[in-house]
Amino acid sequence: MLSGTIIHGDSFLLMQDIPSESVDLILTDPPYAINYRSNRRTFRPQFDFLHNDSPGEWIETFARESYRILKPDSHLYCFTRHDVYIRFFTAFEGAGFKMKRTLVWVKNNHGSGDLKGDYAPRDEWIIFCSKGRRHLNGKRSDNTLFYNTVSSHQRRHPTEKPVDMLSFLISKSTQPGDLVIDPFAGALSTGVAAMDNNCSFLLLDLEQRYLSEGINDIISHPEVARYDIKAEINK
Ligand SMILES: C[S@@+](CC[C@H](N)C(=O)[O-])C[C@H]1O[C@@H](n2cnc3c(N)ncnc32)[C@H](O)[C@@H]1O
Repeated sequence: MLSGTIIHGDSFLLMQDIPSESVDLILTDPPYAINYRSNRRTFRPQFDFLHNDSPGEWIETFARESYRILKPDSHLYCFTRHDVYIRFFTAFEGAGFKMKRTLVWVKNNHGSGDLKGDYAPRDEWIIFCSKGRRHLNGKRSDNTLFYNTVSSHQRRHPTEKPVDMLSFLISKSTQPGDLVIDPFAGALSTGVAAMDNNCSFLLLDLEQRYLSEGINDIISHPEVARYDIKAEINK
């Protein structure tokens, strides 16, 4: 039986409980900035902030914990953004990872930003690194990923990632039955992608409302009967 565990809580605490060298893949999309706030903040309406979204030292701790829990010869993918990329890159390298390549997600549409004074952003960056050396599955892929964004009427999370892209990344870096972890899981898209690949998963997020939004996609997945699903989502 495959396992699917979803926990509402603080990854920086919960990751400490994950045994060393027990995880086959980390695929995650952390808050893009840098200030760790350990206290839960009060609920605010739709999409106006993400936890930890501004300066601190949590990135180094997160990188060290990630290295500790991954098995030897495994991969990590971490979404990031051009202006904080160097912090994440340096932290993963400092933790011991081999920095393999940056993947570029080219979206079907662009964001807004400074309409007159800047180029319209159509990309997101994904740091790809390894603990030890692991071969990628299948035929050789280049480092550009062309996937549509989640349309606004389907989106449950402000930075929701498309499941087909996450599923592709998992397919390159796991075998069926492997354990995939996403410590910043949002609306659980990594879990759905893990199920597409017959992988076990552990998903963590501070925000109950995002986890609750995503749980239906987990329990309605065609492969759900193969999973022992445990969800601790406090109201
Ligand atoms: C960029 S979003 C991830 C979105 C996700 N990839 C999706 O497709 O829905 C980052 C997430 O990290 C969560 N987060 C921030 N700090 C956290 C912490 N200390 N522990 C767990 N989750 C945290 C936020 O609530 C947010 O949902």
